[in-house]
Amino acid sequence: MKIETVTIFPDYFAPLSLSLLGKAQESGILEFVVHDLRSFATNNHHAVDDTPYGGGAGMVMLPEVWGQALDPLMVDETDLIILTPAGKRFDQSMAQEFSRSSHIVFACGRYEGIDDRVREHYNTETYSSRNIRVHEVSIGDYVLGGGEVASLVMIEAITRLLPGVLGNPESLTEESHNEDGYLEYPNFTKPAVWREIAVPEILLSGNHAEIAKWRAAAANARAKKNL
Ligand code: ADE
Repeated sequence: MKIETVTIFPDYFAPLSLSLLGKAQESGILEFVVHDLRSFATNNHHAVDDTPYGGGAGMVMLPEVWGQALDPLMVDETDLIILTPAGKRFDQSMAQEFSRSSHIVFACGRYEGIDDRVREHYNTETYSSRNIRVHEVSIGDYVLGGGEVASLVMIEAITRLLPGVLGNPESLTEESHNEDGYLEYPNFTKPAVWREIAVPEILLSGNHAEIAKWRAAAANARAKKNL
């Protein structure tokens, strides 16, 4: 899978070379490329934004700069993800869908967002006929300073689903046995008693059927409590 990000803050993506994602790049499972949006600004001051038509606070990112940055990335079979708090809510099933993509491009907007014609332009037949799909995605109902952190969240959730990225692929099998893919039971390790709190007896029993039952019930109770 190839993942590209377009941003005015390339340094945000330094963590991609850490840990399991760093290893996945070395082994060729993943390729990350970070593009600096400002390098596509050909105007006098390398501006990437301007005031909004119709007035109002804040700045809007220039369509021409985004067009220059995105055009060369729009190869056949691409998912273009525009990060915005107004987008469709990211969840585990969306992560599963994107994990089947061969090429994802994250457009990280700042300020009040990207001129909406950018979304409209890449959402036309010219692109859809080449399997270029545009998605507006939000990672939650809160407003971040920009799409960089949101795309890092998505990258981590998506790439850990790729074969060979996780150290222990069994973690994924267990997750998918779970209807929702993320409802987890509480976990315990040594010692059996810590600060006078004992691990539930059943987990020490070796009775796998009973343990599975206990875990399902505990996961449910936990999910209900956190609703
Ligand atoms: N940009 C600003 N807030 C965001 C959010 N919640 N999700 C995705 N992109 C964003």
